[in-house]
Amino acid sequence: MRTPFLLVNFKAYPEALGPKAVELAKACAKVAEETGISLGVAPSALDLALVAKSVRLPVFAQHLDPVETGKATGWIPPEAALPAGAVGTIVNHSERKVAWEEMRDLIARCRELGLEVVVCADDVAEAETAAKLGPDYIAVEPPELIGGDVSVTSAKPEVITRAVERIRTTNPKVHVLCGAGVKTGRDVAKALELGTVGILLASGVVKAKSPEKALRDLAKGLVREA
Ligand code: G3P
Repeated sequence: MRTPFLLVNFKAYPEALGPKAVELAKACAKVAEETGISLGVAPSALDLALVAKSVRLPVFAQHLDPVETGKATGWIPPEAALPAGAVGTIVNHSERKVAWEEMRDLIARCRELGLEVVVCADDVAEAETAAKLGPDYIAVEPPELIGGDVSVTSAKPEVITRAVERIRTTNPKVHVLCGAGVKTGRDVAKALELGTVGILLASGVVKAKSPEKALRDLAKGLVREA
C-alpha cells in the first residue's frame, strides 16, 4: 500500500455484506479517486472476489489460514486469496485472534506469494512480539476502544507512541498503523503525528449515515498540511 493510507475493515457488519459490500467499496473507490488518498478495503471472505472485481482498490482479506492447499475443508489458504484478487490480509484481529505460530507461518507464506500482511496487536507488548515476525504492518488497536466514539489517538496516544518506538527498535522494516474509535480527519492527522503510516478502521465508515461523507472527512487527515 502507498502510505499514508486508510484500510476500511468491513468486518461482518450487515451494512457491508453481499451487494452492500460492493456498494460500500464503490463509495470508497469514489472518494479515493476524487481525493487521491491511498485507501484499501477488507470485505468479508465471501464478498472479497466480487469486491475486487468491482472496484480498482487494494482489497485485503480479514483473515487467512497458514494451511496447505488440498484437504483443508473450511480453511482459507493464502493461495486462495491471490486469484480472488486480494493484495494482502489482516491477521490476529482482536475479534479473530491466532496463535503466535500461526501468525509466523502465515507471514512466511504470504511473503512467498507477495501478499502484504497487517498483524493486529492489542497492546505494545503484543506489537513488539509481532514485530519480530516481520509483517508489513502492525496495527495497534486497544480492543476496549474498538467500535466506540473515542479515538485511540486521544484516549491512548502514549500506547501508539510507545508501540511505534518498540516496533522501530525491534524491526525498522515494519510500518505501524493504529485503529479503534477513529472517526474524524483530526483523529487521522493525530495518528500520523504520533508516528503511524495509516489507520485501520471500521464503524466510522461502515456504520456512518453517509460512508462517503465520513470518508471525505477522514481523508482530510491524510493530506499533510503543506
Ligand atoms: O479493524 C479495525 C477495527 O477493529 C477498528 O474498529 O469500529 O473502532 O473503527 P472501529
